[in-house]
Order: sequence, then C-alpha cells, then structure tokens
Amino acid sequence: MEQVVNIGLLGLGTVGGGVYKVLRNNPAVNIVKIAVKDKNEVQEIDGLDKNLLTEDAKVIVTNPDIDIIIEVIGGTGAAYEFIKMALERGKHVVTANKELIAKRGDELFEIAKQNNVLLLFEAAVGGGIPIIMPMKMSLAANKFEKIAGILNGTTNYILTKMDEDNADYEVVLKEAQELGYAEADPTGDVLGYDAAYKIAILASIAFKKKIDQSQIYREGIDTLSPIEFKYAEDFGYKIKLIALAQSVGNKLDVRVHPMLVSKTHPLAHINNVTNSVVMQAQPVNQVMFTGPGAGEMPTASSVCADVLSIVSEIHTTNFLLPEMRCNNTEKADILPIDETENKYFIRIDATDTPGVIGSIGNICSKFGINLNYIIQKDVTKDGMATIVILTGMCKEKDLITALNELSNLSSINTIHKLIRVMEL
Ligand code: HSE
Repeated sequence: MEQVVNIGLLGLGTVGGGVYKVLRNNPAVNIVKIAVKDKNEVQEIDGLDKNLLTEDAKVIVTNPDIDIIIEVIGGTGAAYEFIKMALERGKHVVTANKELIAKRGDELFEIAKQNNVLLLFEAAVGGGIPIIMPMKMSLAANKFEKIAGILNGTTNYILTKMDEDNADYEVVLKEAQELGYAEADPTGDVLGYDAAYKIAILASIAFKKKIDQSQIYREGIDTLSPIEFKYAEDFGYKIKLIALAQSVGNKLDVRVHPMLVSKTHPLAHINNVTNSVVMQAQPVNQVMFTGPGAGEMPTASSVCADVLSIVSEIHTTNFLLPEMRCNNTEKADILPIDETENKYFIRIDATDTPGVIGSIGNICSKFGINLNYIIQKDVTKDGMATIVILTGMCKEKDLITALNELSNLSSINTIHKLIRVMEL
C-alpha cells in the first residue's frame, strides 16, 4: 500500500480553504495541521476538523513528521520565515506567493537546493492556469523569445468594463470593489505590482536568469480614460495591461504597462478576470495559456497539483522532479525603458489652426520618428482639436525628446500619457 504523505497547511483564507477542500479526501495525503492567525476568525468550511487548527505555524514547520508545507499566507514577512524554516528542515514547500518568489526566490531556491528539497509555485502565476510546469517540462526543448500576458484579473476586469461601458476608471474600480473583484486597497493590482511579480517569475524561467524585480518598468491602469478606448477601437485596437518579457540582444526587456493590442491578436479578446499568456519560442513557435487567474478553487487546483507531483515521487526517489529545480546563477541585464523600441499611441490637445499637424510631422521626422497615422478627431467649441497619432517603431528616448520639443509649441495644449502598442 502507498505510504501517506503528511502535509502542513499555512493559511486558511480563500486559497487555503480551497486547498483543504481538495486535499482532505485524497487518500495519498494527510493534512496534519493547519496554521491560522486567529482560531475564532476561521471561515466556515463544512466538515472542517477544528482540532487541526493551530495559531502557532512554527509548530507545523518544525514537526519532523510533516513532509510537505503548503504556504498560502501571502506577503514576504512570516511567509518567508516559515518557508525558510521548512526548507532548512528538509521539507518540500508549495506556495502561491508570487511576491515572495519574485522578491526572494533566489535565496529560497538556494536553501531548497542545499537541502535537496523542492519549492514549487505553479499557483503564483496565472492562478489555475498551468504555466510553470509546462514551461519547465513540456517546453523544455524550446528557446524562449518573447512572453506577453494578461496576468492580473482585477485590472483586466476594470479595463473590460471601461471599454464596454465607456466608463471612467474611478467608477469602474468602485463597482469592482463592490462586486469583490478588486481589493479594498487595490494598489498592488491597479499599479501593476502583481503583474510585475508574475512576469519576473516567467522571465526568470524562460531566460534562465535571475531577475531583479525592482528593475521592472511598471505603469498601472489608473491614468487611462474611456476616450482612449474609443480612439484605440477606431484604429482596430483594444487596451490591455500587458506584462512583457523579451530578449533584446544580450539584455532582457521586462515590463508591465497598458498597451494597445490589435484586435487580430488573441490577447485582445481576453476579457473580465480571465488571464492569458502567449509565449513565442522555438521550435514550438507560439503557444497560449488561458484560464482563471485567481479564485479559491482554480488557485487550489494549481497548489494541489504541485503537492501531488511531489507526493507521486516522494517515496520512490530522493531527488524529485529535477526539471522543477531552479539553477539560475547569472543576473539578467534589464533594458531600461527609454532604450526600448515600440510603436506609440499619442493623444494631443491642440488649437485647431493650420499647420499644427505639419509641425507635429516635422518635429517627429527630425528625430527619425515615422508616423503611421495622424488624424484630427473631435474639435471643441473653444477651438481645441484632439489629434491622435500612431507612430512607427522608434526608440522611446527619441520619442520623449520629440514630445518635449512639441510641448514647447504654442499651438500644443496637452500631450496625454503615451500608450505603447504591442507588436504581434
Ligand atoms: N489579485 C490578482 C488578480 C490575483 O487580480 O489577478 C492574485 O495574484
């Protein structure tokens, strides 16, 4: 008969509850203890054995009978301490903690290596979508070139509603909070931190380098306005918060910001809280992973898959899942944002007088910037016109220089925040 593997669960929040429900009836595992912050504040779960609960997580991570620790507390404080403690004691760890893996993964993977144990994190990126194991195992023969993804459900929900309802960011954010799609403090999601942790993790796996996540350029969705969705639509684009990682020469271009995505690209049609990531790699060419990026049961699906992968080998070998270990030694050289090359969508408010479009064209041409489209849109009663531009491919620092020069013209009133255009 198969030996049962003992599990310690740290956290019984949304994801922890899902993990408990999925694993409690699995005969291959035995949940020995569950750490909670306050035993009196535990969510109602049908049939939950309250004797499993403890407020002392240390008792779990130091218990010699426990083989696998599941960390679903979140954050980088206690979660870090307990994972470290568990790895040092020779326990395998499964976590859903993207922030911790992105910020302190290097250190923790090294401890895991020294102790010949695994630290798995399938749920950290894309919630219920299998991404990490497919990248490391199913795509092992590939050389990755580019990854572009919608990796945050909250922001994708807000952008979808802004687009569909022609609504302001603040209004949709409030609605999303009321519906439980956005946190009371939405900062981590709307300013792109969450997506940046996730793309740091994917870039590190794809390009086999250590990524300093603090170097990832990041812009949120809080500055977007409904008019931009309308103008983008006129040009054949949707606006999405894109997490991007690509190899450029010997550097890595890793960033998170809103982008115009052509309606001919599959990511343009990923709506609401769904996540999706497209990977360009050789020899496979292009693959796309899509599904629920968060939520109790989808995230539990990934956490439990990691646990069961360990369980399936734990009593058969002392060197489990070698492909799932992290052996990156070299630090990635991250391309600064002003060195990146993009196409740009720019919205300018200018006086409706002859020669304005001509002077925009002249200044752009001076800096080698090709204009693919330039069109005058709405003119207000007081004689202000909106001019919308789509540039050709150019270096960001050249565009910024051109826009600075443009802003000095008396006919130019406002140059709104530029939005980069995703290349197919
Ligand atoms: N808050 C994230 C999202 C899920 O909105 O997608 C957890 O990373």
